[in-house]
Amino acid sequence: MAAYPELNGRVVAITGAASGIGAVAAREFAAQGARVALVDIARDDAEALAAELVAAGGAARHVHCDISDEASVQAAIAQVTAAFGGLDVLVNCAGGYTKMLNIEQMPVEEFDKVIALNLRGTFLMCKAAIPSLKASKAGRIINIASISGRTVHATSSPAYGAAKAGVIQLTRFLAWELGPHNITANSIAPITTLTPRVAALRTPEQVEQMAASIPLRRLAEPIDHVNAMLWLASDAASYINGVSLDVNGGRVMF
Ligand SMILES: NC(=O)c1ccc[n+]([C@@H]2O[C@H](COP(=O)([O-])OP(=O)(O)OC[C@H]3O[C@@H](n4cnc5c(N)ncnc54)[C@H](O)[C@@H]3O)[C@@H](O)[C@H]2O)c1
Repeated sequence: MAAYPELNGRVVAITGAASGIGAVAAREFAAQGARVALVDIARDDAEALAAELVAAGGAARHVHCDISDEASVQAAIAQVTAAFGGLDVLVNCAGGYTKMLNIEQMPVEEFDKVIALNLRGTFLMCKAAIPSLKASKAGRIINIASISGRTVHATSSPAYGAAKAGVIQLTRFLAWELGPHNITANSIAPITTLTPRVAALRTPEQVEQMAASIPLRRLAEPIDHVNAMLWLASDAASYINGVSLDVNGGRVMF
């Protein structure tokens, strides 16, 4: 694991930090000495992980939030800044979808729900965090998009793909608007990733079949994305702004 001493003491808020990629991000930012706010709607898992990080000597706390609700987001950012005295890095990792429906079958309520979680939630978190990030010496926004926002994926949801494409473009606008304040904004577009949730939904044969279509012949692990997050948050990436970083083993290249 690369070491980024400059992350020591930085305040990092991670949405979706109770599980999957976000949980690995919380662990690894804490391992770098960052003070971590685990912003998640799921109380038990987020509180348990925060307690684990604190027991290991880190500074971490769960901040309860529904990222699709404006008042909840504003309260969460206020809690983060009150607890840690500011905010340096915002990682928007909460997202996903549960139903694979084509456009003709999709009820408008399902479309709205997926957009609210993946795109509106990211917008609300960024908007609420901007004043605190402006006060930071090294403000960073890292938005987790998806390969589904980069190309049409047969086994994805059209609403999810549209939301994640929106996240990528929203990130470019953030980069444009916030660059003058020394805040960078970049997105990461992961391919299917072997989180515990994803692994439980697929047989080893299905995983092998998916891996066969990827040049690197394996699915991503959460740490592949977290390594990209740490680097984007570090001083080494201080001139990287508005980029959408494909972390997909070469599955989609343009
Ligand atoms: N896992 C993959 O294969 C994969 C692939 C491409 C992109 N992604 C993206 O990566 C990110 C993380 O994915 P994952 O599979 O690790 O997720 P996950 O499903 O394991 O975890 C999502 C987390 O978000 C939280 N959450 C859900 N709704 C919320 C809300 N309204 N407010 C606050 N928190 C909420 C959940 O409680 C959970 O802790 C997502 O944005 C996802 O779209 C994942």
